[in-house]
Amino acid sequence: GKSLLFVGDLIKGVYPASPSSWLFVAIGILATMYMQSDPSMGLITKIQQHLPLRVHNDESVQRIVGVVTLLWLSLILALRFCLKLLLSYHQWMFEKHGRMSNTTKVWVPLVRLLSSRKPLLYSYQSSLPHLPVPAIQDTVSRYLESVRPLLTDPEFKRMSDLANEFESNLGNRLQRYLKLKALWATNYVSDWWEEYVYLRSRGPIMVNSNYYGMDFLYVTPTSVQAARAGNTITALLLYRRKVNREELKPCVCVFCERMFNTTRTPGVETDVLQHWLDSEFVAVYHRGRYFRLWVYRAGRLLSPREIEDQIQRILDDASPPLPGEEKLGALTAGDRIPWAQMRKQYFSSGVNKRSLDIIERAAFFVTLDDEEQGMRGDDPEGNLDRYAKSLLHGKCYDRWFDKSFSVVIYKNGKSGLNAEHSWADAPTVAHLWEYTLATDAFQLGYTEDGHCKGDVEPSLPQPQRLVWNIPAEAQVSSSLAVAQALADDVDCHVFPFREFGKGRIKKCRVSPDAFIQISLQLAYYRDRGGFCLTYEASMTRLFREGRTETVRSCSNESCAFITALEKEECRRLFQLASERHQNLYRMAMTGAGIDRHLFCLYVVSKYLGVESPFLKEVLSEPWRLSTSQTPVQQMNLFDLKNHPDFISLGGGFGPVADDGYGVSYIIVGEDMVNFHVSSKYSCSQTVSNNHFIRQAMMSYIQGMAIVPRKGRMYAFAHFHFLFNHQLFIVNTHSSKIFFFFFF
Ligand SMILES: *[C@@H]1O[C@H](CO)[C@@H](O)[C@H](O)[C@H]1NC(C)=O
Ligand SMILES: *[C@@H]1O[C@H](CO)[C@@H](O)[C@H](O)[C@H]1NC(C)=O
Ligand SMILES: *[C@@H]1O[C@H](CO)[C@@H](O)[C@H](O)[C@H]1NC(C)=O
Repeated sequence: GKSLLFVGDLIKGVYPASPSSWLFVAIGILATMYMQSDPSMGLITKIQQHLPLRVHNDESVQRIVGVVTLLWLSLILALRFCLKLLLSYHQWMFEKHGRMSNTTKVWVPLVRLLSSRKPLLYSYQSSLPHLPVPAIQDTVSRYLESVRPLLTDPEFKRMSDLANEFESNLGNRLQRYLKLKALWATNYVSDWWEEYVYLRSRGPIMVNSNYYGMDFLYVTPTSVQAARAGNTITALLLYRRKVNREELKPCVCVFCERMFNTTRTPGVETDVLQHWLDSEFVAVYHRGRYFRLWVYRAGRLLSPREIEDQIQRILDDASPPLPGEEKLGALTAGDRIPWAQMRKQYFSSGVNKRSLDIIERAAFFVTLDDEEQGMRGDDPEGNLDRYAKSLLHGKCYDRWFDKSFSVVIYKNGKSGLNAEHSWADAPTVAHLWEYTLATDAFQLGYTEDGHCKGDVEPSLPQPQRLVWNIPAEAQVSSSLAVAQALADDVDCHVFPFREFGKGRIKKCRVSPDAFIQISLQLAYYRDRGGFCLTYEASMTRLFREGRTETVRSCSNESCAFITALEKEECRRLFQLASERHQNLYRMAMTGAGIDRHLFCLYVVSKYLGVESPFLKEVLSEPWRLSTSQTPVQQMNLFDLKNHPDFISLGGGFGPVADDGYGVSYIIVGEDMVNFHVSSKYSCSQTVSNNHFIRQAMMSYIQGMAIVPRKGRMYAFAHFHFLFNHQLFIVNTHSSKIFFFFFF
């Protein structure tokens, strides 16, 4: 373990050079010395003057080693600097496929050359450029442009005045502080984003912040609950091993070091993320009781069959919950302050502390659910919606919402997960979940009667029941009431759209993401009779510690298209609207977004104790349409040709505004898009159904019988593949950008 780790650190530290290159430098220097020539143009002689080299001397070996290492390290720094400089170039993303600029033509082979060594998981981060702070004029004018279609003329006039006033006065001052921060921080947004948007938020995290991931749509690999748990837990632990050994591709796993052994602990002012370096067990919840399940025995990971047997022991355990145990998890579902107070008062000593510690220090949390879920029975669609609700909030006390993620295994073998949001964003969790589903179904597999495979050591100790001594006055009822009201209000709808998918959209030479985004706006327009501020999450992974940026995907052009939909110029307007959307997405990815910059300026203004009416208004505008695409990253793990039924449903999240929609979608294969829509029952204007989205998608493609132009279309198939924004996004998530570099 230790020595391997050290080698890993070494390789990581010297990226993009390799440790063996030291030898090349050494041989080079010795050869020059031997041949009495000097290809370094005096550099080596200069160094020799300071560190005189006299061969045949005892100390000479040490000195040679010193010189070689010095040269080698400066080489590494130079290489790293060059790579960083190269990776700061983003213009290629904005170029039309087939029309590559001369700069890009030079850039591609250079990056390929410099990054050709396979980077380890974390080494690549240090070569990424820092996220730049945009100029304040740029952000303000982009902002005004984005709200133009949403405001009437007088409203827009008022907003412009506010914005101009901000730009010429307070804005400049805030910007100076922000630039200062950007000098020392690895990422000027990420730490504040984590702290202020997630950890300091005092409302419930259930529904509002946590999100879910679903199982396969049509198949359940086994109907034996314990067996499904056995394989799923094994697959998750195999993934953890890959994380620890840094065997994953580097772009994928931003923040994945906090994926396991992690919990969010409540505080009065702010929550904190806690992470443990060792954790050889998982915490299991079943029928109101908590268990600790050791997954290692003498350093060996238990076989899937052994874990199945252990889970079966928990399922067979008929002991009743202790007083207060059953609904304990509701504390993590309600408001944060009461939970922080309860935790301090009743869970900071004695058996309660020990048991709570076990849950919080576990690798992850597992719920063995008593219900059956999935698309089944007489009402498959309604059941799919109930399945989504169950994963999003369950009974409000049967998942541990603070845990980095909780896996849920249902009675009929269906599975799913609920993830906490502060430690990382959805693509990281989606990657883990894709790996888990594929490993479970295709690698580990099941015996013919649906049980796990593997040997069983008969003498495994029983899973340990956690002990609690919860006094009657430690009430969870108020947390539960808050959570229950929130859960009851969520209206979820999940539906696979199978009329067409990415394949047909691409034939129209349109980015699938732009197509779906504009469809969603059209659906919203028909549903609510107007446009709204629209949020689409994009990634800023081209920068160090990059998390997300907002794409304000409702644009002047998309509104123009939608209002003109039934008219002549529809096609041209659609092209403009989708190009505009792609451009907005690219700007968000390359650090030229709007919202994170304004958010950070707001944080600075709070630190300085100054009020900005402009920022206050901007940050309180509701996102009535909040959207996110779940990337498919490891398509190679799923063989959809031979197993067309093993389609993953992706995941979803709750509505962001009380009177708005949360929409998540996943583009599966060439012919399908899955949608997850959520809203609140308490708002009379919203209903989560598929009517408008389905109609919008259809009315669109019908208006676009575009004949593919011959010849040029696939002439740049590879770059088409890369430059097509949709695929590019998938690529950055799955580090295929590196694949491209190697190509
Ligand atoms: C790019 O290079 C080609 C020759 O390789 C040249 O003809 C062309 O003018 C250059 N384009 C630009 C924009 O510099
Ligand atoms: C928005 O569109 C309208 C009409 O289509 C146009 O008059 C206006 O100049 C556009 N505004 C911007 C900022 O592009
Ligand atoms: C989590 O705990 C395991 C088991 O003790 C350990 O091997 C691993 O390094 C920890 N993971 C992280 C990311 O710290």
